[in-house]
Amino acid sequence: MTQLIYLDNNASTALAPAVRAAMTPWLDHTGNAASSHAAGQAADRAISCAREQVADLLTAAPREIVFTSGATEANNLAIRGLTTHSPRRTLVCGATEHPSVLEPMRALERDGYTLRIAPVDEEGLLRLDALAELVDDDTMLVSVMAANNETGVVSPIREAADLAHAAGALLHTDATQLAGWGPLSVDTLGADLLSLSAHKMHGPQGVGALFIRRGLRLTPLLHGGGHERGVRSGTPNTMGIVGLGAAAAAAAACTDADRAQVRRRRDLLAALLDELAGPVRLNGHATQRLPGTLNVTFPGVDADLVMAGAPTVAVATGSACSSGHPGPSHVLGVMGIDPALAAASLRFGLSRYTSDSEVHEAAERIATAVQHARASEGRAS
Ligand SMILES: Cc1ncc(COP(=O)(O)O)c(C=O)c1O
Repeated sequence: MTQLIYLDNNASTALAPAVRAAMTPWLDHTGNAASSHAAGQAADRAISCAREQVADLLTAAPREIVFTSGATEANNLAIRGLTTHSPRRTLVCGATEHPSVLEPMRALERDGYTLRIAPVDEEGLLRLDALAELVDDDTMLVSVMAANNETGVVSPIREAADLAHAAGALLHTDATQLAGWGPLSVDTLGADLLSLSAHKMHGPQGVGALFIRRGLRLTPLLHGGGHERGVRSGTPNTMGIVGLGAAAAAAAACTDADRAQVRRRRDLLAALLDELAGPVRLNGHATQRLPGTLNVTFPGVDADLVMAGAPTVAVATGSACSSGHPGPSHVLGVMGIDPALAAASLRFGLSRYTSDSEVHEAAERIATAVQHARASEGRAS
């Protein structure tokens, strides 16, 4: 059988070997981290170690890290949790935010808050000039994603944070897509709140974290036994949290050379697709982009047909993270890309583990599928 080539790492990533090794013993461990017996305390120590690993990745303090079920929960907690602690009534976010930021903001808008959305330019970059116009002394929170899940475009977080802080507002960043690519500093970024998710950085699904700057108070989404210093009740997912910690440690060890290698393979893929199935058009900024993300349009070709024609290459049309809502990508839409071109676009997500040979083989399989799609569309018209 033809081997699957997995190039959908913006949707989810494979467990790193070190993460698997760290998690495995916890499969057979019985014990609630809140219990005072030895089994519980062992789990508690493992969770503390993971908290340090996540804090180290972010150059934060362990007590500023709260474990959640993933970035969706972390984003919701950051946004909704603030509202009861601020008299301000305006929320601001970028137009290409993930639905797990946009939707809680829209829900608050329905409850009477004002929501302002900052546009991006045609390369997907946040327009800081427009953001500056939208932030004022009623702004409670500015939320700007660190990197976009569909285009990989990296946002000017520090500049957005400076704008927010100058108006007395807080800055949240959804760093889900960026966090796996090397050490970060919440101070350098100017982030008051930062979300991440293990399964986007070679950790397990169903676990994530929210950095909450010391001194900030959030109202919990989940009330209960008061776990996570009262911010997130529920028995902690020890095995998942251990996996997140190991993934954070691996991410912190990701170097310039690692990123350059992935970037080279991604650019090789773009060049091969252009040569074998081109011309292709890049969606998103050419350089201000995550190392592994490539979003390209094959003009005149139905991307769903290409995916169907290359079932052994795992890629995405639109956003697989929100595949409950099929349809044209809102990200490409707000970048001003014509819906027909958006429907002809594929997103490739390479990881640190993607090889040169996978890139070559994937380009050939996709190019064959593009040619078949062109031929069948030609016959139909
Ligand atoms: C940018 C971004 N934020 C948030 C999420 C949601 O993360 P999770 O799957 O951990 O809920 C995703 C992907 O699903 C994402 O790409």
